[in-house]
Order: sequence, then C-alpha cells, then structure tokens
Amino acid sequence: MNYLAPSILSADFCELGTQLDIIGKSSVKHLHIDVMDGMFVPSISFGMPVLECVRKRTDLFLDVHMMVERPERYVEEFMRLGADGITIHVEACDCIYKTLERIRSLGGKRGIAINPDTPIEHVFPYIENVDMILVMTVQPGFGGQSYIPKCYDKIRDVRRELDKKGLSVDVEIDGGVRLENLRQNLDAGANMIVTGSAVFKGDIANNINAFLNIMKE
Ligand code: DX5
Ligand code: ZN
Repeated sequence: MNYLAPSILSADFCELGTQLDIIGKSSVKHLHIDVMDGMFVPSISFGMPVLECVRKRTDLFLDVHMMVERPERYVEEFMRLGADGITIHVEACDCIYKTLERIRSLGGKRGIAINPDTPIEHVFPYIENVDMILVMTVQPGFGGQSYIPKCYDKIRDVRRELDKKGLSVDVEIDGGVRLENLRQNLDAGANMIVTGSAVFKGDIANNINAFLNIMKE
C-alpha cells in the first residue's frame, strides 16, 4: 500500500490550522513532522508546542522525523504530546535497539532513518525491529532541495533486503520528491512518500490529488 505524508516544514505557519484542515479533507492519512535541533542538522525547525497544537487540530497519523542528536531524550515526551510514529537517525543515536523498543512500548510505530551518504547496510541490523525505514533522498535539514539520484539504488537495496527476509516494512523517502520523479521512486520500492514543497507550494488540494493519482496507478 502506498501512502503520502505531507511535511509541514513547508507549510505557512501563520495558516497552519487552515492548511491542516485542507489535508484532513483529502484522502491523505499521514502528516510528516520534521524536528531539527541545529546540531544533527544545521537548521532548527520546531518541537513540542507545534506537535501539541497539530495533535489538537487533526486525527492524521503524526509521523515524527527526529533530526536530533540523541533522540532517546525526547521519545517519551513526543509520544505523550501525540506522535503516532517516531523515526530516529541511525547516525544520531548510540542506543538504537533500546530506543526503538521504548517507542514500541509506548504504542508508537518505530522508524529508522538513514542519510544519503551513509551506506544502506547500516540499517540492515535493525530491519526486524522497525515498522518503517526512512531513506533520506536529500541531505537532511532543509525543504526544497533537489533529489539525490544515487538514492534510487539505496531504496532498491533496502526493499530487496526486506523481501529476502519476508518483512512487510514501509520504505519511506524524504526530500526532493516531485511529481516528475515519483513513479521512479515507487518502482524502486518506496511506498511512504514524504513531500513538503511540492504539496504546500500552490494549491494544496490539487497538489495532493496529483500525487495520489500517480500513487494509485
Ligand atoms: C528535510 C526534511 C523533509 C523536507 C522535505 O530535511 O526531512 O521532510 O520537509 O521537503 P521537500 O519535499 O521540499 O524536499
Ligand atoms: Zn523529514
């Protein structure tokens, strides 16, 4: 099954409630929440207060992407504030098994993310302990960047590894996803599609429909 997860990093924060309502009226079921700490990535985005407000406004699945050093420090609080799933970076955490298990025990979906320059094999030890693998398709930190083409191979490799083990784990992609490269990403094995600027720039409802049309093909 394919899913679209619009990233609110590209939302107009003065209009966030209205924009969430538009997404809520579409058939989208997920919302991607990019948390950045200015350490793991150069930029700082938003954190607890925004997550709490978003949770009050929408029933969408809140897919929290922690671009944060030592994310284990925040798992409890993010779950308490309404996250449905938490994704931690393989590059950012020294106690990955324990943190994934903590997310699971609190009722969350567990994700592991990997940067474009980290070999895909680095997530293989965890694939039986996660619900989702997030293959970053740009350097994390900013919306609106161009897709890094070498990531197609990483998506294929991780999907092959999952199939080999008979695991039905979601493969998420994040960064630079546009209508033009969507089909190629689905064909490579991605099924959870994050997109920020391509949804929030222009008419949100129309942009979502255009994505969903390709995803249901
Ligand atoms: C980047 C974030 C992405 C970002 C994607 O570090 O993780 O989720 O919002 O934005 P676009 O789709 O504009 O590349
Ligand atoms: Zn993200």
